[in-house]
Amino acid sequence: MFAWRVDDEIELRLLELEHAGAMHRLTEANRAYLRRWLPWAESETTLEQTEAFIRRSLQQFAEGNGFQAGIWYRQELAGAIGLHYVDRRNRRTEIGYWLAEPLQGRGIMTRACRAVVDHAFGPLGLHRVEIRCATGNHRSRAIPRRLGFREEGVLRQWAWVDGRFHDMVIYGLLAPEWRREPVRGGPLAASL
Ligand SMILES: CC(C)(COP(=O)(O)OP(=O)(O)OC[C@H]1O[C@@H](n2cnc3c(N)ncnc32)[C@H](O)[C@@H]1OP(=O)(O)O)[C@@H](O)C(=O)NCCC(=O)NCCS
Repeated sequence: MFAWRVDDEIELRLLELEHAGAMHRLTEANRAYLRRWLPWAESETTLEQTEAFIRRSLQQFAEGNGFQAGIWYRQELAGAIGLHYVDRRNRRTEIGYWLAEPLQGRGIMTRACRAVVDHAFGPLGLHRVEIRCATGNHRSRAIPRRLGFREEGVLRQWAWVDGRFHDMVIYGLLAPEWRREPVRGGPLAASL
């Protein structure tokens, strides 16, 4: 439904059912690493569950309540990024993301995330973007820091993941704090 070029290497595409096989294979290949931080990686293990996730995200997109996009890096599916919800009344949203383990360290997620923040503050007209990371998830925490988010607080033992409770850091960014740049090819605007 949309393909959104971030730069010469990265493209975001709305996840659709045709992507279920590739998404499932990618999560299978990365499950041991993903389950350290993402609870669904432990509980959603079948192709049918991936398809159900994509159906839910398409519904979410149709309702204007966020989206889930695959990240293609040099034409290869590399991970996913999305808005968990869009709260219109309070004009805020929260970004979530993951990347295949071997593709870490190339700035793929920082670049994808920057594009999604651009979109949230640009076409979507939102006022606040949040990213929540487990305190021990240093790679994830580096992303909002790189993008200028402010660390706002820690929710103690907020999530049960991989057999233990994790404290969660909330990063927040407000529209006036974001250095605005034009969104490159933002077809999301038409639907969200
Ligand atoms: C969180 C996660 C996406 C971070 O991945 P990442 O590869 O560290 O992040 P990026 O893709 O933005 O890459 C940043 C690295 O690329 C480097 N880089 C290279 N080119 C870059 C560019 N153009 N822009 C920014 N950074 C760049 C950075 O210096 C950084 O290097 P470092 O790892 O040596 O510090 C990944 O670890 C992951 O998916 N983890 C498992 C799931 C997870 O935790 N999800 C988040 C839950 S809150």
